[in-house]
Amino acid sequence: MRKPIIAGNWKMYKTATEAKQFVEKVNGLVPAADKVDAVVCAPALFLAQLVVSAENSPLQIGAQTMSEQDEGAYTGEISPVQLTDIGVKYVIIGHSERRQYFNETDESANQKVKAAFTHGLVPILCVGETLEQRENGETGSVVEAQVEKGVAGLTEQQITQLVIAYEPIWAIGTGKTATAEDANEVCGIIRKKVASLYQNEAAEQLRIQYGGSVKPANVDELMAMEHIDGALVGGASLEAESFVKLLEAGS
Ligand code: G3P
Repeated sequence: MRKPIIAGNWKMYKTATEAKQFVEKVNGLVPAADKVDAVVCAPALFLAQLVVSAENSPLQIGAQTMSEQDEGAYTGEISPVQLTDIGVKYVIIGHSERRQYFNETDESANQKVKAAFTHGLVPILCVGETLEQRENGETGSVVEAQVEKGVAGLTEQQITQLVIAYEPIWAIGTGKTATAEDANEVCGIIRKKVASLYQNEAAEQLRIQYGGSVKPANVDELMAMEHIDGALVGGASLEAESFVKLLEAGS
């Protein structure tokens, strides 16, 4: 059985003060670590502080992006070495907003996924189609290509540790959620693609999240689906009460 993983992606929201208050509120309410992996992916600025605030709770802290380089003259970047040093455990890679606004590609995502594994971080690799691609019936082929390029060169063992987030771009922050059936269908396509590249057993262990307007009202239906093992949540992860509800649904 795959352990569910619910991750909040705070994007560029919250101050350090608000983040601390959030963790203080949810700390005692996070389900046990054997039930669900609970993660908050926060702005880099206060990751170190959040790791300390969440020390006595099963809550894990993740970054929203990182460099594929260990160190160097890359102004403004943050490296996997720096993230692991402060106790960060997860990192979102190739989010559609990074692809859209910061020129990230399948190739750069692949480099970052590999760098994350090299340094013991769990990468959450994001894939998903645009509305135009969906309307043209290209969802399957677009997502398959993103997955194939994103996981290139990984070992079977790394595939079992990887998390892929299927986030249809048209469903992000729009209030439009893919139906649970549609989301499950694409997550199934992703698992099948990985099974065609690796052993079936590895693909069966791969965890796949759905992301795009997930909220307490729709999370149960999504989590009940065969191929959906969790959620990557933006807006609804910002309020402590709603985040805890999502964790409860996942556990
Ligand atoms: O990474 C999470 C995300 O892009 C979905 O955002 O606000 O639609 O839950 P939201």
